[in-house]
Amino acid sequence: MNSFSSLSHPNIAFIKYWGNRDNTLRIPANGSISMNLSSLETRTTVEASPEFRIDSLTLNNRRETGAVLDRVKVFFDLLREISGKPFYAHVKSENNFPLSAGIASSASAFAALAMVGSKAFGLDLTEKELSILARRGSGSASRSIPGGFVEWHAGKTNAGSFAETIAPADHWELWDCVAVVTEQPKKTGSTEGHLLAGTSPLQAARVKDAPRRLEICRNAILKRDFEALANIIELDSNMMHGVMMTSQPPLMYWSPKSLEIMLEVAKWRKTSIPAAYTLDAGPNVHVICTREYAHRVRARLEKIPGVAWVLSSGVGSGVQMLS
Ligand code: PMV
Repeated sequence: MNSFSSLSHPNIAFIKYWGNRDNTLRIPANGSISMNLSSLETRTTVEASPEFRIDSLTLNNRRETGAVLDRVKVFFDLLREISGKPFYAHVKSENNFPLSAGIASSASAFAALAMVGSKAFGLDLTEKELSILARRGSGSASRSIPGGFVEWHAGKTNAGSFAETIAPADHWELWDCVAVVTEQPKKTGSTEGHLLAGTSPLQAARVKDAPRRLEICRNAILKRDFEALANIIELDSNMMHGVMMTSQPPLMYWSPKSLEIMLEVAKWRKTSIPAAYTLDAGPNVHVICTREYAHRVRARLEKIPGVAWVLSSGVGSGVQMLS
């Protein structure tokens, strides 16, 4: 029996992935940039054996069935195909953050499954190959394989669509303070949302302009230019939500509370605290700032009525094997 364990982190995108060029292979319509989140951890163990009869998944001590398990089975079908081994796998995975926080746990989950799953199936993959494999489980998981600040090159083929580090985790002490405004699961998951992106008349313009935004974001990170970073990540988040809201049917991931926080953060940046907002496919607001301002951002977010709690994290490493 082969048993392997890993530690992985979710990531927050500064330039977002929304919509695919190829839905089956999860080749995105545009490239994206993110940072891994060090305090949020996923620990995953995979055991694979020709003697197992089924794939199974235990998530936070709960045995999963249905759609969550099906997605994992599809991933192991891919590993069976690549490795040529007729193994089945038993997976145990635990997050130190609640799934209800609306943090994309699929990124850290599939980064882990790519890393330990490939080992358990006897494969020895490079970082690039792991990123390509993780992408097949969840697009954003490709960005949780490398460490620090990461760019996912959209590519046009399976082999050309992977993520790599553009700056290591210690390059810049950025912080993500997440204002959790709801603990309800979102109605439309991102896999379904990506399918609708092309129905928005704004998506083509968003995708066409992506190389420009990627360059501004990459340079802002490399030069540690917070003002430039703040402006581009807010623009990019607004553009993605513009596409979401103008899809058929429209996807309204913001809530009035999200907008209130976004306006507050923009005001802080003008008057007192360098901070910027970005939102994924949900109403919780990620507020990005440098480490020196993190405690003030956190305290201010906690004072806003309707903010249930605030989760915060610095920049994290890529996926790691645990002995
Ligand atoms: O990897 P997925 O399919 O969960 O998509 C992630 C989509 C966003 O979180 C909204 C944006 C991103 O780039 O992470």
